[in-house]
Amino acid sequence: QRLFFICLKDFGQKLGQLTACDGCGMTYSEQEPSDIVLHTKFHKNIFNTLKFPVQTVRNIVDAELGFASEHRRIVPGEQTFLYISGDQQVVGCCVAQIVTKGYRVISDGQTGDGQSATSKPWCCSTNAEPVKCGISRIWVLASERGQKIGSKLIDCVRYHFILGYPLKKADLAFSDPTPDGRSFATRYMGT
Ligand code: ACO
Ligand code: ZN
Repeated sequence: QRLFFICLKDFGQKLGQLTACDGCGMTYSEQEPSDIVLHTKFHKNIFNTLKFPVQTVRNIVDAELGFASEHRRIVPGEQTFLYISGDQQVVGCCVAQIVTKGYRVISDGQTGDGQSATSKPWCCSTNAEPVKCGISRIWVLASERGQKIGSKLIDCVRYHFILGYPLKKADLAFSDPTPDGRSFATRYMGT
């Protein structure tokens, strides 16, 4: 059955009355209305089932991080990393993009104002430092935080972002982090 299908594909999709669908691989007869209905169902089911939920996951992440909806598109060159738990849930997401300059955080703002260290205003050096990868979003499902999932996601970005070139921590920059993001980045980067 399977070999037969491979032959059909190699010889241009049609053999006699049969058609092999390039997308789902089903071989069926276009002359048989019931076959056409069966193929349509099979085809839709395969593509709906195998659809990877990246955009929907990103909508949830972006809503939590407060990205305006017009910024919620996937930019060319961006890479999205997902952390999948043992029970097949997406519990973490990290979006990385090519960035060439980073600006070091140099000030935590005023002290003694009763605010926690991470909610204080902060400012950056005006000196650009070379980096290779920008972390534009890092997110872990609330119930799963504090288990190093965020750290593992960033490790994964470092090893896979550029093929054959594992990134050093110093090659990374975090874009406009939230208070959580700043605390996390400070711990992860050891700064
Ligand atoms: N406050 C203080 N320390 C923290 C915090 C925090 N909010 N989050 C992480 N850390 C520390 C941990 O204690 C740990 O320290 P350790 O190495 O001494 O044990 C270290 O950072 C690593 O923590 P992980 O367990 O790997 O981080 P986690 O899986 O909890 O994910 C994250 C951290 C992604 C920031 C998570 O809290 C989250 O999703 N928050 C809400 C979304 C958010 O604000 N994301 C950051 C946006 S900024 C940006 O995307 C560039
Ligand atoms: Zn098909």
